[in-house]
Formats: sequence, structure tokens, C-alpha cells
Amino acid sequence: MEFYDVIKTRRSVRSYKKEMIPESVLKRILNAARIAPSGSNRQPWKFIIIKDEKIKRKMVDLCEGQEFVAQAPLLIVACGKNIHYNRGGWMGDYSVIVDVAIAVDHLTLAARNEGIGTCWIGSFDNQGIKEFLGIPEDVNVVALTPLGYPEDPNIFKETKNRKKLEEIIFYDKWEGK
Ligand SMILES: Cc1cc2nc3c(=O)[nH]c(=O)nc-3n(C[C@H](O)[C@H](O)[C@H](O)COP(=O)(O)O)c2cc1C
Repeated sequence: MEFYDVIKTRRSVRSYKKEMIPESVLKRILNAARIAPSGSNRQPWKFIIIKDEKIKRKMVDLCEGQEFVAQAPLLIVACGKNIHYNRGGWMGDYSVIVDVAIAVDHLTLAARNEGIGTCWIGSFDNQGIKEFLGIPEDVNVVALTPLGYPEDPNIFKETKNRKKLEEIIFYDKWEGK
């Protein structure tokens, strides 16, 4: 697909078919996350790919009851290892969240390019998921997404539900309050 069409037509998908994603397609999507940039190229990310139905069911509870989390054939849990010193600038430990978020964005856009749906899940119980999946103490969950073919084949379309460019761009310095 054309690059800007991928970006424009990626949508949050909250209803999925059960159809499994071919291994070769999954590899391409995961590889897009793997090659994302990160601060000092630390690549602090790990991705847990959940296929097991019982584990997916429990993940619904840990994602505030969002049922569609268990609907797609795969559920990706994107984690990042905390870095305990400031690598420059003010971000310090927050930089791991930025790094993992960039990788997840690569993943969601690569999925769209393959006709596969995702939905960024930010409402989840970090500690609960860590305990349930055996994630080490110095690693946190940054985001989750189901990965599967959308129930509605027409879901991939442009949205009008965004601010206008004039509302979000300043030149040279901040304008207004
Ligand atoms: C950080 C973040 C957290 C989000 N958390 C959730 C979530 O827990 N559940 C959900 O259904 N959607 C979640 N979303 C999806 C947003 O609601 C969605 O991206 C936004 O409404 C724009 O719609 P679009 O993705 O279709 O363009 C989240 C998105 C982001 C970026």
C-alpha cells in the first residue's frame, strides 16, 4: 500500500474474525516493530504473543473487561525494561515508554498494510498482567493490541475525527495560552 494511505486508513478495530494470521505475515509485522528506533538504540522492548484462549480470557479481566481483547487470534503484550538512569534530557525512566510506543506504532501500521486490524489498549492493570504472565519486576507493560482480521472489511477508512492542522501547528514559538 501507499505509505500515506496506510497511515490515513489505520483504525482501531474492536471486532475480529477468528481466522489465524499466516506465519509469514506475522513475521513481517513483528519485524516492523523490531526495526523501530529507540533512544541510544537500546531496543528495550519485548513482545509477548498470546494465542492460548484461556490466557486471552483472563487478559480481558486485566484490561478492564474489554471483551474484544480476546476476540482476535493473537493478543500482543508490548513490554519495556526500565532504565534506571537518565540517558540525557529530562525523560529518564519515561524514555522506555516512548521507545516501546514507537515500536508498537510501527507494528500497528505494518498490520494495517497487511489488512490486519489492531487496537491500542492502554486501559490495563500493569501489576496484574505482570504477575499473571510472569513479567520481571523491572519490566513494565506499555501497551497491548489484538491482532486479527477485522469483522467489518470496510473499517479501514479515513477519519474526520481529528483536529485541523491550524489548531496544532505553531511557527517559531508557542502561540496563545
Ligand atoms: C495510548 C492509547 C491508549 C488507548 N487505549 C484504548 C483502550 O484501552 N481501549 C480502546 O478501545 N481503545 C484505546 N485506544 C484507541 C483510541 O481510542 C483510538 O486510537 C482513538 O479513538 C482514535 O481512533 P482510531 O485509532 O480509529 O484512529 C487507545 C489509544 C492510545 C493511543
